[in-house]
Amino acid sequence: MYFPDYRPRRLRKNANFRRMVRETNLSVDNMVYPLFVTEGKGVKKPINSMPGNFQLSIDYLLRAVEETKELGILAVLLFGIPDKKDEAASGAFAKDGIVQRAVRTIKDKAPDILVITDVCLCEYTSHGHCGMIEKGDVENDSTIEVLAETALSHAKAGADMVAPSAMMDGQIGAIRETLDEAGYDSIPIMSYAAKYASCFYGPFREAAESAPQYGDRKSYQMDPANGDEAIREMTLDVEEGADILMVKPALPYLDIIRRAREEFDLPIAAYNVSGEFSMIKAAANLGWLDGEKAMMESLLSIRRAGADIIITYFAQEAAKVLNK
Ligand code: PBG
Repeated sequence: MYFPDYRPRRLRKNANFRRMVRETNLSVDNMVYPLFVTEGKGVKKPINSMPGNFQLSIDYLLRAVEETKELGILAVLLFGIPDKKDEAASGAFAKDGIVQRAVRTIKDKAPDILVITDVCLCEYTSHGHCGMIEKGDVENDSTIEVLAETALSHAKAGADMVAPSAMMDGQIGAIRETLDEAGYDSIPIMSYAAKYASCFYGPFREAAESAPQYGDRKSYQMDPANGDEAIREMTLDVEEGADILMVKPALPYLDIIRRAREEFDLPIAAYNVSGEFSMIKAAANLGWLDGEKAMMESLLSIRRAGADIIITYFAQEAAKVLNK
């Protein structure tokens, strides 16, 4: 009979051994909490497909930011839901736009947390696409001008970092140059560098009211079949001046996170997107999964794959577990 000489189980024998040799850990330092801000006062409108998430008016947003900070989380990522949408996405870069006002309020009342803003146009266009439409498709170069103007308006409002997510060619370079020329050279860019055309954004589009009214996003977001192309996209963003590279979604793309980690020496972020969140919530609600364990295991896997930063709707819940 064969018996092994080397026995890996020796170092799994008890909790102390397991902790001693643990390779990856999760901390509140790694997590960013996304929040949705909407017009009005006293608004806290539940998002059906994302239990525990809400569209918040600025007064309630401020409370949510304060709660987030008290849990030890360092950063929030803001998405705006404007009252009016138009072809030109004018709400995206308006000085008094919803995100701009939200940022100013947070920076005024709760300055001690990093405010990151999503820079995209889909929440602000009447057609729901991430840019300017010409001849039935999103036109790249006029869009990056608007994205740059939007990023600048966020920086002027006091955003600590901007996160462009429209997947337009050259958007990082355009934003970097615009920020620099206006004196915002110290504001970093977290680029949604490898963002896939994923069905896992479904619940978010309900949350942000940003579903495209026709067609899809496949002419700008990446084909889920491609990995080498993600490296190309990230290389371009590094050259154009990105400070942090993001892979999105996270769990179906852990291989891309790993490749990004090995290929680049910049911090890597991963977006644990709405669909990844909602799947676990739905299964937990049915009693099919232990929701808390599934959450912690998912977040740990994303870290193990190589992400430094995880953007996740679980941030508050996970912080409560970590702070226990
Ligand atoms: C904006 C944007 C989207 C997400 C983040 N920024 C939606 C999209 O590209 O359709 C998705 C986030 C999530 O699903 O949690 N373009």
